Amino acid sequence: MSDRRTIKLTVNGQDYERETETRTTLVDFLRHELDLTGTHVGCEHGVCGACTVLVDGAAVRSCLMLAVQADGRQVTTVEGLSHDDDLTPLQKSFRKHHALQCGFCTPGMITTAHALLSEEPDCDADRVREVLSGNICRCTGYISIVEAVLDARSAYRKPGGGPA
Ligand code: FES
Ligand code: FES
Repeated sequence: MSDRRTIKLTVNGQDYERETETRTTLVDFLRHELDLTGTHVGCEHGVCGACTVLVDGAAVRSCLMLAVQADGRQVTTVEGLSHDDDLTPLQKSFRKHHALQCGFCTPGMITTAHALLSEEPDCDADRVREVLSGNICRCTGYISIVEAVLDARSAYRKPGGGPA
């Protein structure tokens, strides 16, 4: 027997009210209910970081969180860290440094890096490595990703905080 509840949440600045099964994970809710497929599903048990989104500004693994736990919260996905007209400074930096190959890990890298740079725009390479150590990339070897994040720091030091 399925148990369903109605939740209200804000995703990428847009308010939603949806009924969902209480067992539905946040990542499945985002992908299947809201069609926000930028958030990827890898391991489904909190190891790979591909599903990372921001919940009230904090980086969260959306495969480990139920959709009902996001009731009343502000959620930002990788789509919410993008602009229609141009790439953001963080995205440009990933492109400049070739910080992606297949791109599967990239949404989680972007959301995690955005959370870090928003809080710590002066972080050093060791700190970037520490924070990104929870995000698995099978392609790049990480060096280019760390360089991209370090290069994007200046955009987050501007008055008013992060650029996204
Ligand atoms: S899919 Fe969530 S951490 Fe891997
Ligand atoms: S770019 Fe392929 S997994 Fe990271």
